[in-house]
Amino acid sequence: MTAKTSLTGIKPTATPHLGNYLGAIRPALELSKTFRSFYFIADYHAITSVKDPVALRSYVHDVAATWLATGLDPERTVFFRQSDVPEVFELSWILSCLLATGQLERGHAYKDAIAKGEVANAGIFYYPVLMAADILLYDTNVVPIGKDQKQHLELCRDVAVRLNHVYGGKVLVVPEPHLSDAPLVPGLDGEKMSKSRGNAIPLFASAKELRKVVMKIATTSEPLEAPKDPEAATVWQLTRQLSPAVADAMAEKLRAGGYGWGHAKEDLYQALEAELGPKREVYAALRADEEKLDRVLAEGAEQARRVARATMARVREAIGIARPLQDLRSTVNLKRSDLGG
Ligand code: TRP
Repeated sequence: MTAKTSLTGIKPTATPHLGNYLGAIRPALELSKTFRSFYFIADYHAITSVKDPVALRSYVHDVAATWLATGLDPERTVFFRQSDVPEVFELSWILSCLLATGQLERGHAYKDAIAKGEVANAGIFYYPVLMAADILLYDTNVVPIGKDQKQHLELCRDVAVRLNHVYGGKVLVVPEPHLSDAPLVPGLDGEKMSKSRGNAIPLFASAKELRKVVMKIATTSEPLEAPKDPEAATVWQLTRQLSPAVADAMAEKLRAGGYGWGHAKEDLYQALEAELGPKREVYAALRADEEKLDRVLAEGAEQARRVARATMARVREAIGIARPLQDLRSTVNLKRSDLGG
């Protein structure tokens, strides 16, 4: 294991689906084998859009159970809720004082909301600042991201460099992006898989339901005997992302002819079931035990806060803000009564 830290935030705005698993979860779990990892549930980012408290709480538990069931080991990865580390807000305020509003006005999410004529809440405007604080608080070296997060990471790097420059020193670690070159995971209709498009394949549906959904994948309508082109087919693209070995075999059969799209879907279903079937039961048991999930996340938060406090001590020192009272108390050995508390 290297001492380098990788970090990612997972926004709990829906129950994770197959696209999240193949595009984000599985690669992040792979990365956690070689990095010291901080993976957290970005619940405060989610409230820019999720306004239903019952749904939010439920998504947080869905996300936690999904990552644990698919292989996150909380003994190796610091796994926690963003909201359990309030230091992130202290840092985000400090960062915002080093950012020009123009840089935030150019933010994709904010610009898109405005372009669509939506009334963007200030949280959407401020989103990249909170995300930068998420990253910088834990001395992160690498952040695994998709293309959609590139701009956020650039802003994070900019503000870290600026803080180091303004306050004359190596206060913050400047992170690098770990850009995924994996193609988008297509949904049932061939477009990017997403909950809002209604084209998602659920991760932990029953075997029967999973098969039913897989059979809905859109295909062309060549006859069974015709040789077929795998590359353009959603069913093959999904198979390739799931398992290159299964995809190679499928491509050969498609090109040879005498193998229909229904057969291809059956093979994809079998491969999905082989990968997800055993995890489904683990998920169900975890998801049914919210107390346990909360406990795991709380233990992660303890570790995360230790790092966060150390970073904040450094930052406060650098910018000329007094250290927090609880630190002072131990340094000068004051008693509670000396502080009037
Ligand atoms: N913005 C990310 C997303 O929408 C979630 C996120 C929040 C994040 N904080 C982060 C990702 C820090 C990486 C690092 O997916």
